[in-house]
Amino acid sequence: MLEIRNINKQFASKELNIDACNDVSLSVADGEIYGIIGYSGAGKSTLIRCINFLETPDSGEIEIKDFGTIVSRNKTLFYRDLENNEIKCSEKHLRSLRKGIGMIFQQYNLLDRSTVYDNIAYSLRYSGVSKKDIDQKVKELLEIVDLTDKINSYPSELSGGQKQRVAIARALANNPKILLSDEATSALDPDATESILKLLKKLNKEFGLTIVLITHEMAVIKSIADKVAVMEGGKVVEEGDVYDIFAHPQKEITKNFVKSSMGLGNIDRLKEETEVTKGKLVKLVFEKDCVGEAIISTISRDCSVNVNIMLADVEIVHEMPLGTMVVALEGEQMNVQKALKHLNECNVRIEEV
Ligand SMILES: Nc1ncnc2c1ncn2[C@@H]1O[C@H](COP(=O)(O)OP(=O)(O)OP(=O)(O)O)[C@@H](O)[C@H]1O
Ligand SMILES: [Mg+2]
Repeated sequence: MLEIRNINKQFASKELNIDACNDVSLSVADGEIYGIIGYSGAGKSTLIRCINFLETPDSGEIEIKDFGTIVSRNKTLFYRDLENNEIKCSEKHLRSLRKGIGMIFQQYNLLDRSTVYDNIAYSLRYSGVSKKDIDQKVKELLEIVDLTDKINSYPSELSGGQKQRVAIARALANNPKILLSDEATSALDPDATESILKLLKKLNKEFGLTIVLITHEMAVIKSIADKVAVMEGGKVVEEGDVYDIFAHPQKEITKNFVKSSMGLGNIDRLKEETEVTKGKLVKLVFEKDCVGEAIISTISRDCSVNVNIMLADVEIVHEMPLGTMVVALEGEQMNVQKALKHLNECNVRIEEV
């Protein structure tokens, strides 16, 4: 559906050149919610702006199903059609690409002097849609984002969550297949964040909207994304299914993101304080196929070890349970080994703490 190939974007300043995007390639399937996470300055916004060419990549390609490919070579753009014919890219090609891609931002970017109705109708007025059809479309969109009663309000009369709903309705006005979201929930409180994420999920499920969502919060990824890519220093350093990334993060940065959202952030403090704890300290990861079994009771009873639970957390990631526990296993060494063997046989992943 959306192929991002070898995108490079460098910003030059007096002192140094910044590789905001360094050879980034990602493949987003139809109807997928693809999360991109990274710390500030990782290059997320630059990448997402390269997808709809608000930013011209130095080089690389963006291919969109049923539309074709826009290729940048040395910042010169070409359009390659579905039959592989290549011509110089025109404003018309870019407009046509952008029509199929909606975008929402952290700061909503609404027109303050226009009503909710006019904010949403704005882009339709410039695409030759009749007044009657505009009216119908705006009302339909307001119903979808559950804001019908605010049709004549001005942005200043709305809460942050309501403003973002207007921005979402506006982004959907031209029936795009893809929605790009640049930190759309970062300015919102937890309740408003949850309701916007629910709305995005609904749009994805009911209308098959493909969503590329960038964030610095793993909680957002955990809540709605199917896939995730981790960006650092302009590069994608890790990517995969959200559940796999949460269960087996490989890179240090990914481990930190996972840790920060899994209620196990205290693990380091715990380590410092457990020098006085008796027993063998291990972290246990219970993936979907072993959550729900009474494994801890079993090892405690059958192996004669005391299981002292120091930290525990069960999360729902991608609608499946993922449990993590830090425990001290106390008992005779042979029994502790037996307990670890049983855990292993039950597919519980064991990590030394
Ligand atoms: N127009 C610009 N001119 C110069 N440098 C830029 C420009 N836009 C971005 N950069 C630099 O490129 C790098 C990536 O910026 P970008 O905005 O893509 O990061 P980000 O991951 O979106 O960060 P944040 O989470 O803070 O929004 C940063 O070092 C930034 O300073
Ligand atoms: Mg950004």
